[in-house]
Amino acid sequence: MSVRRLAPPELQPASFAFNAESEARVAKEIVKYPPGRQASAVISLLWIGQEQEGWVSHPMIEVVGKRLDMAFIRVLEVATFYTMFNLVPVGKFHLQVCTTPPCTLRNSDAVMEACKKHIGPSQMTPSADGMLSWTEVECLGACTNAPVFQVGRDFYEDLDAETTVKLIEAFRRGEKPKPGSQIGRVSSEAVTGPNTLTDPAIYSKKPETA
Ligand code: FES
Repeated sequence: MSVRRLAPPELQPASFAFNAESEARVAKEIVKYPPGRQASAVISLLWIGQEQEGWVSHPMIEVVGKRLDMAFIRVLEVATFYTMFNLVPVGKFHLQVCTTPPCTLRNSDAVMEACKKHIGPSQMTPSADGMLSWTEVECLGACTNAPVFQVGRDFYEDLDAETTVKLIEAFRRGEKPKPGSQIGRVSSEAVTGPNTLTDPAIYSKKPETA
């Protein structure tokens, strides 16, 4: 795990404010918690800010702290702990590539190489057209469909070099390709298809009543 720091001053914007759409979402999050416990909304507010701006800046952390009555350092701790928060400007489509062992064993190296070749050699660095960036992350919790990368809220699964390049090209055109398994798996069944509980009779039997 690399050290996570805020972007250098020259990259920081002069200010940050939630826009009207984000403000409505912020209000809905804060009322979920009892008075005095509004700090519990910190992850939600940082996420809303990131969805608005694409990354979490120093002024955004200040605004979130003031809104939730939290010290700057407490919001900073949260923002720097979770890799879901981008601390520098990223591409419009930011690929978080899992390289934890289950994905490595299913050749996440090929996914990484495709990202390096078709987006750029360095992590957290937007491509020249600003459309894409990539980073390496720990387990995304979708190991049975490894290798995997995440873009925003979507998971792209069962990847290889070829599908990764196709997805990158689609993102570059501004499209949002269909998330999920890229080899047609419906969920997390074996790649050879279901091999247990396949007898239809077990589903037609009526449940016994007490
Ligand atoms: S190891 Fe990659 S999703 Fe879990």
